[in-house]
Order: sequence, then structure tokens, then C-alpha cells
Amino acid sequence: MSPIEEVIINKKTNVNPIWIMRQAGRYLPEFREIRKVNSDFIKLCLNQDLSSEITLQPLKRFDLDAAIIFSDILMVPYGLNQKVEFKKNFGPILGDINLDQISKIDEVEFVNKLNPVYKAINLVRNNELTKNKSTIGFVGAPWTLLVYMINQQSPKLKLKDTFFKNKHLISKLLQVLERFIKIHIKQQIESGAEIIQIFDSWAGLLSENDLPNYIYNPTFNLVEYIKSLNIPVICFPRGIKDYKKYCDIVNPDAICIDYEVNPLTIVKEIKIPIQGGMDPKVLLTNKENLKAEAKKYLDIFKDHPYIFNLGHGVLPETDPNMMDFLVKTVKDY
Ligand code: CP3
Repeated sequence: MSPIEEVIINKKTNVNPIWIMRQAGRYLPEFREIRKVNSDFIKLCLNQDLSSEITLQPLKRFDLDAAIIFSDILMVPYGLNQKVEFKKNFGPILGDINLDQISKIDEVEFVNKLNPVYKAINLVRNNELTKNKSTIGFVGAPWTLLVYMINQQSPKLKLKDTFFKNKHLISKLLQVLERFIKIHIKQQIESGAEIIQIFDSWAGLLSENDLPNYIYNPTFNLVEYIKSLNIPVICFPRGIKDYKKYCDIVNPDAICIDYEVNPLTIVKEIKIPIQGGMDPKVLLTNKENLKAEAKKYLDIFKDHPYIFNLGHGVLPETDPNMMDFLVKTVKDY
């Protein structure tokens, strides 16, 4: 069993595995080299040789315990034939939604479109570099995908005013999303993904009353589905106000916390394995501070099953040497 599985499945507390959200990405010069000559991000995700190579890049440099497949949560809307583009220094831009068209898509067409993602997972899983490490597959939660599909760009701080206007569209999309996210999960698992992480990056935008409808129920269904396939599932409801309630209702195998959460409260409230927490900006400071902050999390979770990670993705301006230092600090703890 890999160290991350030891923590999630066997609840071990004497191992300190580490992986980092967005570990394959823009802070690595070798990624930027590839990105420079591949201006279309979706095409890059659909190039199995390059996307598997990018996935493995951080493992060549650092002693990380997992490979997270280089892809994007927006590959699902793309597979549903919504136009998805990534604009430099702006982020994703999505096309208009055609519900009729989306409702007509069948499983075979969807899987064919995303097939290179599954092939990349297979290449990563079978590579020497992932021996005794976990290959992590992922999806966006229905709510966060709905946000991108309807808002058509990152909401930053708020959704567009008309977001909730078309209730029919929202409920139909949630149904379609649940169906196709499950297909995407199953394909990833069949191709070698050993753990699934569900990213709900915009969980923090909703008020308490809306959580059951948009977050608790649809995510619970996905968690149940992943468990039925005998694969551990980690949930990351970034910015959700009540992590304990979320865990009680959604019941994932492990919970990933963001950097605004007080780890001292969380460790007391939550019984399941915990992942993440440290502010990615700490990596932009100095080694002394980085060591102190990493140790803070390791000390707090010393007697709790804990996977080291950040409280959001690693920032593009991070010095890879700081990442190296962080991984060594965690491993030497
Ligand atoms: O973690 C990894 O190393 C695996 C790859 C990965 C990417 N995106 C690659 C990527 C993962 C797990 C994601 C998830 C993702 N994508 C999320 C959830 C996590 C989070 O950050 O909240 C979200 C919301 C997206 C949507 C998305 N993709 C946005 C908003 C952007 C643009 C802004 C940004 O953060 O880069 C992307 C583009 C993207 N996805 C890049 C990478 C490496 C940058 C592409 C580039 O310009 O080179």
C-alpha cells in the first residue's frame, strides 16, 4: 500500500506523505518550456504523451507521494461540447450553453473525446516513477462545474446577477453533470487512478440554505459512487464555512482543507483523515518561515491521519527550490 493509502485507509499517523495541488504546472521551467510551444491548453491536456510527461515532471524533481494527472476540471464541460478556452492572464472562457445539444450527448461520444486523458493516466500509473506512490484522478464537483458553465468564466468574488434565473437549466445541468462526472470518474479508475479528489473550488460562494441542493446532495452521490468502486475519495470544498457539517453529510474518506481554516479547530472537530491547509503564499517567503509553518501543520496533526498539502494550488511564482525544501522538511519530520 502507498503511504497516502496507509493514511486514508489504515488511518496511519506515523507516516507523513506529501503531494501538492497543481504540483504539475507553471512554477516549473520544464512545464513552461512545453507550454510555450503548445498554446492551446485543452489540446495539451489531450496530448497523452505530453500530459503524462508533465504529470511526471514534479516527481522527477521531488520525493512526492502522488502523481496528479495533468488535466483540468473543465475537461467535462468540454466533453459535453461546451466551448472552453483559456486566455492568458485571464483564465477560462466558456461558450454559450445549448441544453438540447448537451442533453443529447451519449457516453461513447464523451469518452472518445476525453480518451487521451485516460490513456495519460495509464501511462503515468505504469511508469517506474509512480511505484509505491498514488496516481490521483480528479473531477470538479457538480456545483463548481455549474459555476463555470453558467458564469462562463471564473466568478472571482461573485456570480453574475442572472446566475440563478433559469432554474430549469440549472436542475437539468446538475443531472447531466452528475451522470457524466460519474462516467469520467469510472474511466479514470479503469485506466489506473487509485484515488479520486473532488475539487469544489467555489463551495464558498453559496449560503447555508443552498448547500443541500447544490453541494451536499450531488457531492454525496459522487462520493457514494466512488466508494462503490472501492476507491478512496478526498473532497476539497474550498471556502465552505462548516467543514465538520460537510464531512458529516457528504462523508468522504478524507477531507482537504483550505488555508483560511484554523487547523487547531479542525483537528478537534473532524475524525476522518485530513489533507492540506498551509497557505501557498508561505512558499513565497523564506526557508526559515516555510519550515516553521510546515512544522506547525505537522505538529498539530501529529496524532491524526494527515496528508501534507497546501490549502490551494501552488502559485506560479513559486521557486522550485522552495518546493524542494518543503518536501524535504516534511519527509525529515
Ligand atoms: O494539480 C495538478 O497539478 C493537476 C492539474 C490541474 C490543473 N487544473 C491544471 C491547470 C488540476 C487538478 C486543475 C483543477 C482545476 N482547474 C480547478 C480546481 C482547483 C482550483 O484551483 O481551485 C479549477 C477551478 C480549474 C479551472 C481552471 N483551470 C482555471 C481557473 C484556470 C486558470 C487559472 C489558473 O489557476 O491557472 C485553469 C488553467 C490551468 N489548469 C492551468 C493548469 C496547469 C494553467 C494553464 C496555463 O496557463 O499554463
